[in-house]
Amino acid sequence: MGKNRVVIGCQWGDEGKGKIVDLLAAEADIIARFQGGANAGHTVVAGGSKYILHLIPSGIIQPGKLCYIGNGVVLDPAAFLEELAFLQAKGVDHRGRLFVSPAANLVLPYHKLVDVVEERARGTESLGTTMRGIGPAYVDKVARHGIRVADLFVPDRLKARLDYQRRLKAKYLEGSTDERADLDRIYRDLLEFAEIIRPMVVDVSYELMRAHRDGKAILYEGAQGSMLDIDLGTYPFATSSNTTTGGVLTGLGVGPRMIDEVIGVVKAYTTRVGAGPFPTELVDAAGERIRTLGDEYGATTGRPRRCGWLDLVALRHTVRINGVDAIAVTKLDVLDEFDEVKICVAYELGGARLEQVPLDLAALNQVKPVYRSLPGWKSDCTGITRFDGLPGLAREYLNFIAADLGVSICLVSTGAKREETIMVRN
Ligand code: IMP
Repeated sequence: MGKNRVVIGCQWGDEGKGKIVDLLAAEADIIARFQGGANAGHTVVAGGSKYILHLIPSGIIQPGKLCYIGNGVVLDPAAFLEELAFLQAKGVDHRGRLFVSPAANLVLPYHKLVDVVEERARGTESLGTTMRGIGPAYVDKVARHGIRVADLFVPDRLKARLDYQRRLKAKYLEGSTDERADLDRIYRDLLEFAEIIRPMVVDVSYELMRAHRDGKAILYEGAQGSMLDIDLGTYPFATSSNTTTGGVLTGLGVGPRMIDEVIGVVKAYTTRVGAGPFPTELVDAAGERIRTLGDEYGATTGRPRRCGWLDLVALRHTVRINGVDAIAVTKLDVLDEFDEVKICVAYELGGARLEQVPLDLAALNQVKPVYRSLPGWKSDCTGITRFDGLPGLAREYLNFIAADLGVSICLVSTGAKREETIMVRN
């Protein structure tokens, strides 16, 4: 029986999940996305090529793997088509390997328009969304007037739903000359899209259960990070989906016994894009150095990421809410040159020491990090493939993290390429 694993980001996204999913996909038969949409940016470097995927599971790059997009994902037809074309140009044949749930909600051009207008309206309180229409699409889903993949195949129903949107979103759409507000055009485009996606539409929950019964291994690919979870993250500075393990169950329609292991991806330091609390953020030369060395610019939006030291308090929270069994530590090599590396072991707030993330955002905004300073290893870790080949001080850094979190380390990434990896379990 294959092992079903969840790969989840333990910080604010951009932990390097793409590479980890790509590596673990080699041991899986199926890769499934359960939440989020084209706001994600999963970078995989394989066979001398760089792939950035937003919506389609990263596993598609590996020949023969089956990929599923679950009902919890919000599917943007335009982004989907673009990605299919990108894969085709790269020589990746997706035919017969890519499947989509009929219950997935669509992200339509007007959602992106609403995203932009709402972000503007928030003024200084803006969230810094990716402008991919994610929030507005999930709003429609939860309000129960979303348009789902299944609606594409019933033109009258599709038309009626779009007409309802016209009335609902009149304040955004009426009189707008923006082409994203043109619902007649959207309708025509969707009818065309229906024929492209039709052969890919299957009951994802049922297919995964059958595959599981047949002994196949499933990899559940998370997007964004746990601190961006709509329920358990730094709300309202969050994305609009459940990015955590719970999202696997609702976003694909699988039971808890179809998860054998939860792997949390932890970048060796912390980054965040968009607004919101970030206790260990460095707004000095050290932060700039991490950004440069780590090439910390958004894969989806190109925005410079905010950078800071590792935050163990946030990681304790995300290890707990996900039930993380083991962590995969990425981008360790980015810290190679530092004289000292710091780890935030607690927060300080009004003279009190906090070991856990305070649930009130106002409090989290005010906390000061309490650091433990460790000496830097000052030697090049790039490409090291054995744990005992790492400098002693780098091992100390990793062991300190694992001991605090009470988890094992299953993998350490020492570069962008597949082979620049320490598979600790081997
Ligand atoms: P949205 O998901 O576009 O609504 O953006 C909400 C917040 O989540 C913003 O702070 C984004 O920068 C952040 N976000 C969304 N997707 C990602 C991602 O894949 N990586 C990192 N941050 C993300």
